Formats: sequence, C-alpha cells, structure tokens
Amino acid sequence: MGTRFLPATKASPKEMLTIVDKPLIQYGVEEALAAGMEQIIMITGRGKRAIEDHFDISAELEANLKSAGKEKLYKKVSYVARMAEVIYVRQKQAMGLGHAVLCARHWVADEAFGVSLADELIIHDKPAMQQLREVYEQTGCSVLGLMQVPADQVFKYGIVDYQADENGLLRLTDMVEKPAPEDAPSNMAIVGRYIFTPRLMELLRETRPGSGGEIQLTDAIAVLAKEEPVYGVLLEGQRFDAGNPEGFLLANTLLGLQHEQYGKALRQALKEVLNKP
Ligand code: G1P
Repeated sequence: MGTRFLPATKASPKEMLTIVDKPLIQYGVEEALAAGMEQIIMITGRGKRAIEDHFDISAELEANLKSAGKEKLYKKVSYVARMAEVIYVRQKQAMGLGHAVLCARHWVADEAFGVSLADELIIHDKPAMQQLREVYEQTGCSVLGLMQVPADQVFKYGIVDYQADENGLLRLTDMVEKPAPEDAPSNMAIVGRYIFTPRLMELLRETRPGSGGEIQLTDAIAVLAKEEPVYGVLLEGQRFDAGNPEGFLLANTLLGLQHEQYGKALRQALKEVLNKP
C-alpha cells in the first residue's frame, strides 16, 4: 500500500517511483528478462493503472518523437512497450505477499516461477535473479535471495535458518517472518528474490494468516522446506530498499553518480554542497 512513502504514493503506485530515469518496476522487469524469464505476471491492485500504461504502447508519444527526429528517446519509449509479454492480475484486497503470489496461480499452473519484489533494488553485473537461476539450474529446487542484515533490523524481514550442504550450498531448514531479535534464527534475511517449484503454490492455498494477520509467503516456504530442499543464495550486489524514502534517496544518489549522462554534474553539485560549512 506504499504507506512508508506517503504522501508521494497517495495517488501514484510506489512501483512507479523513479530511480534516476526509470520507474522501479522497470528495473524489476529488466532483471527478470536478463535472467531468461519470458513471461511477466504483475500482481497489481486499485490505483496502479499507471504500471499498465507504462508497459503499453503510447502511440501518440511514439509518433511525436519519431516525427521530431528524437530517435534515441523514441527507442527508449518503444522498447518499454515491447520488452516483455506482461499479464496483469489484480489483487482485490491487500491480504499479504503470500496472497498476492497466489493470485497468479492460474497463470503459473504447474511451472517453476520467479517472484521479485520490485521495491528491493539490487544492482550487480550479474542480475540477482540470474544468481538465483544458476542455483535453480544446478539443483532443480526452490531458491531464495539472501543478504546479511544487522541484528536490530531482523524484525523487518523473513529470517532464515540454514546449513551448508556438501556442495557448499545453503540449505534452508526453517524461516520466520519478521522475528523479534531474540527469536531470529540468524541474521540472514530474505531480500525479495525467489524462484519456486510449483509445489509452493499448492502450499500457499493452505497457508493461514500469520505475522501481521497477513498470508505470508515465508510461512508457505517454511512448510516447503520441510518437504523438499530449498536453497538460499547470498546475493552479490548493492541492495536498496527503495520502497522507503531513505533507501530511495540513497539509490537515486548512488545510481545518479554512476549515470553516464548525469553522473558528472551530480558529483560536482554534491561536492559543492558538502564542502559548504
Ligand atoms: C517481504 C517478505 C519478507 C522479506 C521482505 C524483503 O516483507 O514478507 O520475508 O524479507 O519482503 O523486502 P515486506 O517488506 O513486504 O513487509
């Protein structure tokens, strides 16, 4: 519901917040495509139609850019509308992440599938979803993206318990959604990237509301991990929780500094601001 970002998210979806020159959701789609995923299913809801418009053809804009000879901009805009096959499913009530994933069950059917929470931005040469996919290809099992977090932050995440297996992979033995620091099995947090075997969907159907009264994805994965191996990948990359103002500002600043067009001017401006007494 984007409450951490009000009033910015009052009338526009948080997935459309811009990091430098692209909305968050586009980073998520690009990452999935780079990992070889072919079909994107977006779980949306009321007030999120801007997402559909973003990935749709804007005939007038494309025609205007083309006739004005703005070839570079035209390419950027037309690429977004054609980059992926996107299916939209509306979640009618915010009943939790597990419930949101379950809304896609008819489209996922009996295939393995990835889940990406687009407000977690993870930047690395090897996209986070690709890092997961490699372990999925190796094992044929569900895989979760993990990162270490400080002990006083565990209450914000799903936290896993794990053992290293004979191949050096992290086999997840249990997990808890948003534990108090004293109940956390480790400081290894689930960071919004998942690949699942189809069994997860069946388990989600049976999952009852958990932490916060919501149907928690983490609870269904904990049951899955008792039935079949579930692995964790300690993700490489720079991670931003761009769904809150602090992470968002940091992401914009750091990615802005790296941007080929805006980086130089931003660096200069920041230097001047920071050097002022
Ligand atoms: C969700 C998941 C949680 C995970 C987190 C990553 O929580 O339920 O397990 O660690 O995303 O961002 P949310 O941030 O939606 O409350």
